[in-house]
Amino acid sequence: MLAAADLRSGDRVLEVGSGGYNAALIAELVGATGTVVSIDIDPDVTANARAALDRAGYPHVQVVQADAAHGHPDAGLFDVILVTVESSDVPPAWRHQLAPAGRLIVPLRMRGNTRCLTLRHDGDHLTATAAVQCGFVAMQGEGADPVTRIRLYGDDIVLTLDDPTTRADPERLAAALDGPRVEAWTQITATVDEHGVFESIHLWLASQPRPYGVLTVDRHKVGDLLDPDNKFTCPTLLGPDSFAHLTLRQPRRGVYEFGDHGFGPAADRLVAELTDLILTWDRDYRHGPGPAITVHPTGTPVPATDRPQLLVPRRHTTIAITWPAPIHDSKDPQ
Ligand SMILES: C[S@@+](CC[C@H](N)C(=O)[O-])C[C@H]1O[C@@H](n2cnc3c(N)ncnc32)[C@H](O)[C@@H]1O
Repeated sequence: MLAAADLRSGDRVLEVGSGGYNAALIAELVGATGTVVSIDIDPDVTANARAALDRAGYPHVQVVQADAAHGHPDAGLFDVILVTVESSDVPPAWRHQLAPAGRLIVPLRMRGNTRCLTLRHDGDHLTATAAVQCGFVAMQGEGADPVTRIRLYGDDIVLTLDDPTTRADPERLAAALDGPRVEAWTQITATVDEHGVFESIHLWLASQPRPYGVLTVDRHKVGDLLDPDNKFTCPTLLGPDSFAHLTLRQPRRGVYEFGDHGFGPAADRLVAELTDLILTWDRDYRHGPGPAITVHPTGTPVPATDRPQLLVPRRHTTIAITWPAPIHDSKDPQ
């Protein structure tokens, strides 16, 4: 995050979420002419951070106890706002207090997928110039926006919903696990050293304008019942009484093949749909530049497009994830 912030000597930096250590690193990077303000909602955290910074020789770092959803009122513009807590939205104060060439570094949650975005002003909206998979504790206070967690098998299989348009019936989905499993394999493979490949397919599947959630699975407890591709955030297509999720198998050491597992009366249809999405991603998007992520204040238009796009409606903004032209379109037909 510090590298993404591209900190320069003399920068004014607002850190959201305190601890002391990161604020001290920022203070080193911006030097004696820079300004560092660290805000935390929790008075115990700010007290500890203040004491630690004083002890370590950083009395000039300001520590403020407040809800950072309101920015740091009356403090003017910041070159960098570095958010060290997961947010589902960009409150207006962060945009208003970001200098014209400023960088807003924020772990933004989009349909259960958190990406650390580097956002910059771009006309009436913000555009991400980098997006890195990450995980953080959730925002508290006015910006708190908890996800919906549906327990499908005690606490050992939990479905997370993070969009107001997706509803799910916990009992019918849990009952799907009692039936047989439908399985399909795609022959599409990836290796662990292919940079960003799993991040890319996860965001692609999350970007589909259809009911979607992510599964979190305690593999030790559930045995063979469910085999997610990723035990923390496994992409899952949903129906009213059925679901299909991404899975992996290892045909050879270090090589993973994408597949899908479906449960419930509509498992065949959902598995076919998921397979199609994996094939499309592999053919058209996997080797492309990845999606544009833009954040539009509520009330400003999101430009229409014929590209695959997901709009995530939040309280203060609409987050748009827009995929580029399919790479097979741009290839010379010869
Ligand atoms: C991961 S910690 C921050 C780590 C810190 N930057 C460091 O250097 O160790 C996240 C912090 O965000 C704080 N937080 C959560 N919601 C907040 C809010 N609305 N405003 C300010 N701080 C908040 C929590 O109290 C918690 O201390």
